[in-house]
Amino acid sequence: MDQEVSRLLNEQINKEFYSAYLYLDIANYYDSQGLDGFANWYEIQAKEEMDHAMLFYHYLHNNDVPVTLEAVAKPEKTYSGLMEPLETALAHERYVTSLINALYAAAQKVHDFRTTQFLDWFIKEQGEEEKNSSDQITKMKLYGGDAKGLYMLNSELLGRTYAAPTLTL
Ligand code: FEO
Repeated sequence: MDQEVSRLLNEQINKEFYSAYLYLDIANYYDSQGLDGFANWYEIQAKEEMDHAMLFYHYLHNNDVPVTLEAVAKPEKTYSGLMEPLETALAHERYVTSLINALYAAAQKVHDFRTTQFLDWFIKEQGEEEKNSSDQITKMKLYGGDAKGLYMLNSELLGRTYAAPTLTL
């Protein structure tokens, strides 16, 4: 495999684990605020990010590329309101989309079509993740301003259940 492509794939393992850690930190914040539904949603999101990390890990191993595991950074953000974590999540997903796009471009440049095909799933997934984040902000703006609306929103997010990723290697 091309060195730059394998370097970026390896780096993505760390980025996905960091995403998991960031979302666990958001769950942690909402738990501390008594919003178990919001916390549930982000705890499940954290699990999904770990799944993403493991997909990159297995993809590299399946292609006989050695994997290096680096330290996962500490989520440094402190939140001053209920909306802020949602905005942080959307900005973060947009950033992850840019990483996946850069990875895709690097693979395409060297005609590594196995990798571009692997990444197709992530391209679509990023679209869904950005939409989910953006929808949450919209709903929070619409309904989060009063106690009853916030209660309903929290109940809705409590209903999210974990599902393993649809991509298999
Ligand atoms: Fe693994 Fe939320 O992107």
